[in-house]
Amino acid sequence: MTDVMIHGDRSLPIYVQLENLVRDKIDSGDWAPGIMLPSERQLCDTYGIARMTVRQAISNLVAEGLLTRTQGRGTFVARPRLRQPLSKLTSFTEDMRDRGLLGSTRLLMQEQMAASPEIAAVLAIAVGAPVLQIQRLRSANGHPMALETSTLRGDITAPLRHEDLEHQSLYRLLEERCGVRMLRASQELEAGIAGEAEARLLEVAPGAPVLRIQRRSLVLWQGQEVLCEYVRSTYRSDRYRFYVELER
Ligand code: GLP
Repeated sequence: MTDVMIHGDRSLPIYVQLENLVRDKIDSGDWAPGIMLPSERQLCDTYGIARMTVRQAISNLVAEGLLTRTQGRGTFVARPRLRQPLSKLTSFTEDMRDRGLLGSTRLLMQEQMAASPEIAAVLAIAVGAPVLQIQRLRSANGHPMALETSTLRGDITAPLRHEDLEHQSLYRLLEERCGVRMLRASQELEAGIAGEAEARLLEVAPGAPVLRIQRRSLVLWQGQEVLCEYVRSTYRSDRYRFYVELER
């Protein structure tokens, strides 16, 4: 029991009352996704409560995914996660367009190289065979969503040598320039934590939870089904929720 009441039920611990107050502000749209919360000091002053109490409430809401904390910048109302089906072979560009979001890409690397033994095994090509590797930061409405490193068979993607991969969809170029038809892909997903460089690009704290995805795509090319693309991606776990329909 306490004499201080900041929201709702006086019998609830004060940090829970503060959590509920923040929840209400978010639900009512008063605090929209992306806005910065008042500082701890301001919250203490506004509600006449201790800093530790504010800290506890905020930490709980961050853990719950309702708020996000960016080091040195502040605490923000989290943007809702995008629900992404795991059973559809879509491209980032298509996906953003279908959702009515503005997708953009920052090309971090585009290189022709020789396949390492690991890549050769994954793409079922000879060690040393040419491959095209590109690294891209993908954003939605200007907010970083995922970091993708794609390695593609060099023979198939030879026509892409001089293409602008920053402003065009890779899948569209594969179909239109390389005569490839995307058939299917296998994908593996696991939890991870953001390393320093990834964290900087994705604008999360180093050590923040991320989702790591590996995709191997099979295409129809010159009448044959071949492995064409191997992608290692790091998705922001606070921006995505993956789902799959199960049958029995
Ligand atoms: C998604 C997939 C990637 C794929 C990419 C192609 O992001 N996770 O594996 O390489 O789409 O996207 P786009 O055609 O927009 O370049």
